Amino acid sequence: MLRLIRIYRKKIGRLQRLAEIYLQNRKLNLSQNKLGGFNRDELQTLKGVKTFVVEGNRIFTELANGQAEISFYQDGVVGVKLYGGTRKEPITTGAIHELPKAAEIEVCKEGNDYHVEYQKYRAVIKFDPFAITIYNNTRVKVCAGLQTRFSVDKMVVWKELKEEHFYAGGEQTGPLDKRGRYLEYWNTDAFGYHNDQTIHTYCSIPFVIATRDSATYGLFIDEPCCGFFDLGREEPDRLYFGVNQSFMRYYIIPGETIKEVVEKYTGMTGRMPLPPLWSLGFHISKWSYFPVEKVYKIAETLRRKKIPADVVHLDIDYMDGFRVFTFDPDFFPHPRKMAEKLASMGFKTVAILDPGVKKDDEYQVYREGQEKGYFTKNADGETVTGEVWPKETVFPDFYRSEVRSWWSRLVKDFLTEYGVSGIWNDMNEPSELTDLYRTLPESARHRLDDGREVSHRFVHNIYGFLEVQAAFAGFREAAPELRPFLLSRSGFPGVQRYAAIWTGDNRSRFQHLALAIPMNCNLGLSGVAFVGNDVGGFNEHCTAELFARWIAMGAFTPFYRVHSICNARPQEPWTFGAEVEKISREFITLRYRLLPYIYNQFYQAHTTGLPVMRPLVLDYQDDPETATIDDEYLFGPDLLVAPVTEEGRLERKVYLPRGSWFDFWTDRRIQGGSRITAPTPLDGLPLYVRADAVIPVWQPRQSTSVPPPKELIFEIYPVVRGELTYYEDDGTTTRFRNGEYNLLKVEHEQNLGQLAVRISYLTRGYDSGRENLILRLHGVKELSRIIWGGEEMDPDQWCYEAGAGLLEIVLPDTGDNHEVFVKQGLDE
Ligand code: GLC
Repeated sequence: MLRLIRIYRKKIGRLQRLAEIYLQNRKLNLSQNKLGGFNRDELQTLKGVKTFVVEGNRIFTELANGQAEISFYQDGVVGVKLYGGTRKEPITTGAIHELPKAAEIEVCKEGNDYHVEYQKYRAVIKFDPFAITIYNNTRVKVCAGLQTRFSVDKMVVWKELKEEHFYAGGEQTGPLDKRGRYLEYWNTDAFGYHNDQTIHTYCSIPFVIATRDSATYGLFIDEPCCGFFDLGREEPDRLYFGVNQSFMRYYIIPGETIKEVVEKYTGMTGRMPLPPLWSLGFHISKWSYFPVEKVYKIAETLRRKKIPADVVHLDIDYMDGFRVFTFDPDFFPHPRKMAEKLASMGFKTVAILDPGVKKDDEYQVYREGQEKGYFTKNADGETVTGEVWPKETVFPDFYRSEVRSWWSRLVKDFLTEYGVSGIWNDMNEPSELTDLYRTLPESARHRLDDGREVSHRFVHNIYGFLEVQAAFAGFREAAPELRPFLLSRSGFPGVQRYAAIWTGDNRSRFQHLALAIPMNCNLGLSGVAFVGNDVGGFNEHCTAELFARWIAMGAFTPFYRVHSICNARPQEPWTFGAEVEKISREFITLRYRLLPYIYNQFYQAHTTGLPVMRPLVLDYQDDPETATIDDEYLFGPDLLVAPVTEEGRLERKVYLPRGSWFDFWTDRRIQGGSRITAPTPLDGLPLYVRADAVIPVWQPRQSTSVPPPKELIFEIYPVVRGELTYYEDDGTTTRFRNGEYNLLKVEHEQNLGQLAVRISYLTRGYDSGRENLILRLHGVKELSRIIWGGEEMDPDQWCYEAGAGLLEIVLPDTGDNHEVFVKQGLDE
């Protein structure tokens, strides 16, 4: 016992020191210079056509000082490959999942320019200097190039700007609209990042969406090196974008709306798989959950206090001396039993995994990787070492499929042996604690499958992306019938196909709660629908007030996890006193009530690529007011959330877009297109339901592992007409692929004092075991009769609260269609 206490103290002391070192080192990072700078005069202009060849949907041109290859696809997408000087073989990033089909093209020469007609679009290619302009079907200029310049280590394209707003851009601090800002892509361990100083964050998605009155378009750079977008910062009416090498692949994605561009972009880079339902529940975490008794205590306390939760995360504390794929034998002597015990309490276990492998000859993973040459080497063939948690660390060379397969096997064995349900991929930028750029040194070389060797700096941004691909494959091998849950800190376009992203080490400050809104919304527009932040803040000490505000907002973010650093105060909901504990319980419980709605939104993200957490401008692009709103957002299309992002605020202004809205808490109907003032007591969160929405909910459970309730409830807010297509399946397996799912359609229409509601199964391949469907109609006044199946409904089947204007109707869920007519006058 004494020994254990001694080593416990030692371990906790070491963790605290690590946290301090981490903080110290990362301070430098905040003022780090940008990497993407260049001197315009040192670049030469790409120009002059020598040859022009059309082949299928492609045009190849030999220029006076380089090459260009332009491909035309359906949906108006154009792929451009530019080479300054001689052609280099580009590196496949893996971002592209599926390109749109090739378009048929017609080319004609007009003066010195080439005009390309493809579908309803037209492209004009100029050669002096080289530039492309795209026009849509109404001949409106969508996107115009001015010139392209390059040097041995730069390729930059300039375009003209009009009144564009810019969105997406991946993981960025700052406001929603990126007009006037400079974005740079270099995955970095951005500990404690900040609004104004941070240039680099953990995850690089070089994709922006531009909107102006007449046109919307996306620009996506598909290169794994450092890239950048200047969205009118240097020159207000110019956009430039480029990369730190002499060639670049990019895509122009025109669309009528932001939605269309997001759908096309996610069609190209892939969409998220259906997540397991449990991963949409509440997750609890803190760097310091050890020994195993502590983990149990946290889990038991959640259950005792009736705070619903599905997942406990294990941070690096569980490992044996920070060796990946191991458990500390003193503090976690029976990991499998732990996972089983947690499972019996309704919890899944998610374990952190870093890519860095401790350099230790006694350690099997290191020995095997070293013997097989799986770790990253430098030009002299020596294994590159760096410093991470276990001190001297080596880094798998994930660029080779052989290394990824090895990692997949390790992940598979780990999952199978210990019964862990999810992997939290951290430090995968990759992070290194001592290097100037906090990552692998420039001397690090990666070997590609085709035998080429490249310097780390040319492929830096896909390191973590490749790692999560390997982990995902490991999951598939371990349990092909189950849906994987992976969380990642680093990412690249397409990462949504494998992992959810959390936005790393934020701070316990209101400013960070506020910045999470545009950050998550823009990540959502960049294809990453499954996104969240450390609720309460990671670094620094959270206050009770901040926690109350954050736990409320977190209930309306796609990924919902409380997490913090080991040397910050405890951050479990009950550690802030009775009031905040109650607030936490209420919001987490509400999250569990809304799970059918949330799951349905994830199904939408899976099928269309549209985000779950979305800026108002996505659904109301025609309303100029919404262009820059980033202190409120939509959670799915039907709920508008206006969190309190400042300390001490007891009310706030909320903009409600056109149409009418219901106050979620009071059912009061409010006309949209205006700003209202909402009271914001500590336990309040301004929340509104779009009129005509149908929100599926169920009775909340303490965990999704408890069998689903026998009732599904549709909260209907009828004004004119509305509909919902509700998707359901077993929530955990891949059986939906064999047709084991249901699509249930709910339609309602209000006509001459009569409200009609129709329910029908469009598909019924999954046996939900449910007994009833419950309709809860809001805003119902003066009920006179209810007709169901052509006859007056039995009063036992319904209940009407006249004061609240709420009518509840119970229908047996037999699989048959239902038609209900409610004769009344609805609240105007
Ligand atoms: C990194 C992660 C953080 C984690 C810590 C220790 O800072 O971002 O979430 O707690 O490492 O593993």
